[in-house]
Amino acid sequence: MNYNRDVEKFEIEGYLLHSLEDKEDVFAVRDIFKGELKKILGKEIELEDYHNHVKDDDQHQKIHYKLYKYLLTNQNHIAFFTKNQKFFESIMGLDVDIQIEPKFRISRPGKPQDNIGYHYDLDYGNSPYEVSCMINLTDVDEGGAVRFLSRSHAQPKLKTHPVESVGVEKGSIKHQLGVPYLLQRVVDESYKSEMFPIPFNVGEVLCFDLGILHGLEVSNSETTRFSIDCRLKSPLANSGVRQGYYKSLFRSPLAKAAARFYEANPDALEEDRSVG
Ligand SMILES: [Fe+2]
Repeated sequence: MNYNRDVEKFEIEGYLLHSLEDKEDVFAVRDIFKGELKKILGKEIELEDYHNHVKDDDQHQKIHYKLYKYLLTNQNHIAFFTKNQKFFESIMGLDVDIQIEPKFRISRPGKPQDNIGYHYDLDYGNSPYEVSCMINLTDVDEGGAVRFLSRSHAQPKLKTHPVESVGVEKGSIKHQLGVPYLLQRVVDESYKSEMFPIPFNVGEVLCFDLGILHGLEVSNSETTRFSIDCRLKSPLANSGVRQGYYKSLFRSPLAKAAARFYEANPDALEEDRSVG
């Protein structure tokens, strides 16, 4: 299958696959995680083989949480974007905010509990002005890849309904690791046979519009997927996410000039400060 790699077609396809110009920091994070796993497990393993070494779900959750906290504390994901600024600007424009706490996923083969199923992020407070950037730390084949409903961002949104997420409390570790406590499922499941996977390798990024239906129910791969999902947003666009979800990443010359105006005029109306 030919996946879209043309930024001009992002509008039509709702996603874009791209080989990062600067991959160094992605490989560096992969090596850091391998080092952390060596400390925990007492032996060196490949991330792809993780499921063969960690079989107990409680142990897995502790490891997942530890690596996630490492990522949040060190903000390793920021460099993926700053080192590839021109590419991300080609989709987003010159004013870009970045998610402070990206999601970090570990999807083991045959473990539905590692995935949240098919969904629209719009049902969780996001807007179609937001982009999710998925960066894999392992090579991912069709069986383990996130799936998409082709061009669904440009179609009437399918009706969804809330379904309780069994065993996930608000604020729990699972919730912090990206599993909603209330899932929003598409009512009519006939779309499922049309979901198509987008596999890709370490050093590539998959950017997709949050209006597109996507997700994974269970990995049929033979390898574990480690991936980081980080959202970008135009600071001019509204989003239903909480305060402090995003921070400034790139600013245009105009936005920088406007910031100086507000610095010099602290009494100017707060609501005018759309690009802080
Ligand atoms: Fe999502």
